[in-house]
Amino acid sequence: MIYLKTEEEIELLRENNLLVSKTLAEVGRHIKPGVTTKQLDRIIEDFIRSHGATPAFLGYQGYPASACISINEQVVHGIPSDNIVIKEGDIVSVDVGTFMKGFVGDSAYTFAVGEVSAEARQLMEVTKEALYRGTAQAKAGNRIGDISAAVQDYAESFGYGVVRELEGHGLGRKMHEEPGVPNYGLRGRGPLLKEGMVICIEPMITMGTRAVVFERDGWTVRTRDRKPAAHYEFAVAIRKDGPDVLTDFSIIENSLG
Ligand code: MF3
Ligand code: CO
Repeated sequence: MIYLKTEEEIELLRENNLLVSKTLAEVGRHIKPGVTTKQLDRIIEDFIRSHGATPAFLGYQGYPASACISINEQVVHGIPSDNIVIKEGDIVSVDVGTFMKGFVGDSAYTFAVGEVSAEARQLMEVTKEALYRGTAQAKAGNRIGDISAAVQDYAESFGYGVVRELEGHGLGRKMHEEPGVPNYGLRGRGPLLKEGMVICIEPMITMGTRAVVFERDGWTVRTRDRKPAAHYEFAVAIRKDGPDVLTDFSIIENSLG
């Protein structure tokens, strides 16, 4: 069942995803060599709660933290830990969720720590551009496959891997609603996009092969070849004339300077 949202509901989803964007901007300023991912998680939790929301990930299917923080070969769902210390040259994907006024916010951004390799920089840039190209397809009358194919074709044109085991999703009162939004697929296939649908588009792109391993902690997903991965996520409302992006990366990028 795909829930179509009213204007009022879309505005509540926008409020949530704006708070997620501000939270990502706040944590981005603290991502420096020497900080632990647990410290970053604390900053995220405090920021969310001080803005009248609760962390949507905390307790979700037993998830033990407020954010997923995934470094280098970790693709997604890295669990914050006192034992994981950020270092110069890392790429750090931070995925944050909020719950406020009955709706969920969910977005992610990959940060560079100081000087990162040219290869890692390109991986990040291509993954973000893949998100933008997928997002451009998010309009009424298109199909999910138009988004999927746009993401896949762009990422694969650089020789990168497109992770298939995880996908984007509908967003609303629940974090994961229908439809699923794969990052690979065929144009013109899949569910029809209708005005009022809200979806999360979240490419997970690898520098090497697309194969991933699910770690024994029950959450962390890493690349099998241990090469780096990047992950960016937008929440997007489908409109007649095009995408209405509810996440605001400019807040994050302006705060990074
Ligand atoms: N943004 C992720 C997703 O869409 C985060 C969910 S993970 C959990 O699946 F921590 F909340 F479980
Ligand atoms: Co998501």
